[in-house]
Amino acid sequence: MLKADELKEEAARAALDLVEDGMRLGLGSGSTAARFVAALGERVAAGLRVICVPTSEATRLQAEKLGIPLSTLDETPELNLTVDGADEIDAELRLIKGGGGALLREKIVATASDRMVVIADESKLVKTLGAFPLPVEVVRFGLLATMRLVEAIAVEAGCHGEIRLRPGVGQAPFVTDQGNLILDCAFGAILEPEVLAFALKRVPGVVEHGLFLGLADLAIVAGSGGIKLLRRPGA
Ligand code: 5RP
Repeated sequence: MLKADELKEEAARAALDLVEDGMRLGLGSGSTAARFVAALGERVAAGLRVICVPTSEATRLQAEKLGIPLSTLDETPELNLTVDGADEIDAELRLIKGGGGALLREKIVATASDRMVVIADESKLVKTLGAFPLPVEVVRFGLLATMRLVEAIAVEAGCHGEIRLRPGVGQAPFVTDQGNLILDCAFGAILEPEVLAFALKRVPGVVEHGLFLGLADLAIVAGSGGIKLLRRPGA
C-alpha cells in the first residue's frame, strides 16, 4: 500500500472508535471515507447496529454491498455523527470539500448531524485554504452568466483566478448526483473564507460551494508521527 493510502486507512480506523451501537451515521464520500465505510462494514458484519445515510451514490453502492443498513434524511433527519474526508483543512477546521463532486449532499448530511468528524492524511492540512481549486456546484441553466457572476463576486471578496467547468466523460461536463455542474475555482489563497462563502451564496445559479465553515468539530489526521486530533476552536 502507498504511504498516503496507509495514512488514510489509519485515520479511517481511528474514527471507528467514535461509533457506538445504535448510532445514526452520515457516511462521507471519496477515497478516505470509503476506507471508513469498509471498516464500518466489518464491524456491522460482526454485529454492530447502526443506521447510515450516504452522501453520494458511490458511497450508497459501497455500503449496500457491505450490508450496512441505509436510510435517507427523509426517514432519518437527525444524525449523531458524520465521518467524511476533505480536500483541505485549516487550523480552524475550515474545509474545502467537493473534489469528488459530492459537496452538496455532504454539506446537507453534515449539517443534519450533531457532530462532523473529518478523516484525512496529513497532506490535507494547510495554513490557508485555496491551493486546492474550490468546487462550486451550479445549475445548468444560465451557466455562462453564473460563471461571470461567480468571477465578479469572487473578485469583490478578494479572490482572483481561473474558473473552469469540471470535465466529465468525453466532451460532456461532470454531472453531480443532483444533476448539477461543478465549477472549479482556482483562487489561490482564500484569505477570508467567510466573506467568499457569503458572496457565493448570493449568486442565484450557485447551489452550494465547497467551503465547509463551522461544520467540522474534530479532524483525525494521520501522519508520519501518528494520529493527531484537531478540534475546532470553540467546538
Ligand atoms: C468529495 C469530497 C472528499 O471528501 C474529498 O474530495 C476528499 O477525498 P479523498 O479522501 O479521496 O482525498 O469532498 O466530494
